[in-house]
Amino acid sequence: MNSIQPNSLLSVPTGALRIPELQAATINPDSETVLFSLVIPTYKEAGNIQKIVSVLSNLLDGSIPGNYELIVVDDDSPDGTWKIAQSLIGEYPQLRVMRRQNERGLSSAVIRGWQAATGRVLGVIDADLQHPPHVLLQLLQAMEEGADLAVASRHVDGGGVSSWSFIRRFLSRGAQLLGLIILPGVLGRVSDPMSGYFMIRRRCIVGQTLNPVGYKILLEAIGRGNVGKIAEVGYVFSERKEGESKVTWKQYVEYIHHLIRLRLSTGRLGQFSQRIGFPIGRFLRFGLVGLSGVFVDMAVLYLLSDPTTLALPLTRSKIIAGEVAIVNNFLWNDMWTFADVSSQQQQWRQRLKRFLKFNMICLAGLVLNVLVLNLVFNFVIPNRYIANLIAIAVATVWNFWVNLKLSWRVTQVK
Ligand code: GDD
Ligand code: MN
Repeated sequence: MNSIQPNSLLSVPTGALRIPELQAATINPDSETVLFSLVIPTYKEAGNIQKIVSVLSNLLDGSIPGNYELIVVDDDSPDGTWKIAQSLIGEYPQLRVMRRQNERGLSSAVIRGWQAATGRVLGVIDADLQHPPHVLLQLLQAMEEGADLAVASRHVDGGGVSSWSFIRRFLSRGAQLLGLIILPGVLGRVSDPMSGYFMIRRRCIVGQTLNPVGYKILLEAIGRGNVGKIAEVGYVFSERKEGESKVTWKQYVEYIHHLIRLRLSTGRLGQFSQRIGFPIGRFLRFGLVGLSGVFVDMAVLYLLSDPTTLALPLTRSKIIAGEVAIVNNFLWNDMWTFADVSSQQQQWRQRLKRFLKFNMICLAGLVLNVLVLNLVFNFVIPNRYIANLIAIAVATVWNFWVNLKLSWRVTQVK
């Protein structure tokens, strides 16, 4: 399969997390396409990687020999998982290995693997053998029979979890219930929306930019893809033998964040903003951040210039307060409004560049704000507060649109 250098690593796709058409997918142009590409996301799986590669290869050699590929996507594991996987390439010609050093996270790992894949069917399985590999054959069978998506589920006949603590069961079921309330159109379609073990027909998600927030790539696939028939196969989620789970409370917080984003971008509001080509959901978040900036600005102005505090000169206080508010707004926008873009450009140089651009644009916005205020107050509405509101609204649209195009656009990381 790898006809360039034996044991060479796959180059890491960059830019938007969009699934390409098949012909554009092959990173190495001379690799043939296959029926099935199975991504194995890994982080600190040195104790499992050899076993999972050998079990999967034996299983798939027995059912679709030469018509599949295994793609290990490792986030530069400190235990050298990627190195062990790379050393196996000679023995398993269907194996390809990607080592990511500038990006981290389970969901984006799966999507980068699918971007590099050459299969018509794209799948994902955990590396820790908690997903029983033999279920793959039933999932492939379901795809053969016309399913667009085949999901291994713990909550159908034959499904279950081994000895999960009451807390883990409670959290999993609770997360599912919450999802059914926020996003019934997506979570209602499968019995185990938390599953990380499934396969999907490439054409259902081609061209879709999948969002790397969170741990649950299945929600993205169903929420943003064009998925028709869904099949489910029961499986028992078994105990880990080596290494430990990377799921922390952070994944639960990200999951709620993920549900709300998906709701905003795929609900009526999302469809309307797609129609008018203006990201309303993102603009609302930007506006909320801007509002927090107003409070920060007022608070700093009070602390610096009020006669009962430091009583510094008004203009100097305003300039400092305005800059502190800009820093506040940048941090929130980078962490929330544009998280899907900034999470792909995490290097401090990239962050600094975004901050400087944001600063310049907001300062230009401040000038625009003052100009519009004077224009409206002197020639349109002689009421300073209404004029100021109109000026703030104009400056906010300016700040949003220019930052969207310049500061947080997805650039092809060279
Ligand atoms: N590349 C990469 N980057 N891989 C990761 C990362 C990451 O940041 N975090 C976890 N992984 C890999 C692990 O190496 C493992 O192969 C798989 O993702 C699942 O991670 P676990 O830490 O084992 O998760 P779990 O056992 O709690 O499983 C839960 O989450 C899985 C992922 O959604 C369960 O809900 C599973 O059903 C689900 O598949
Ligand atoms: Mn696991």
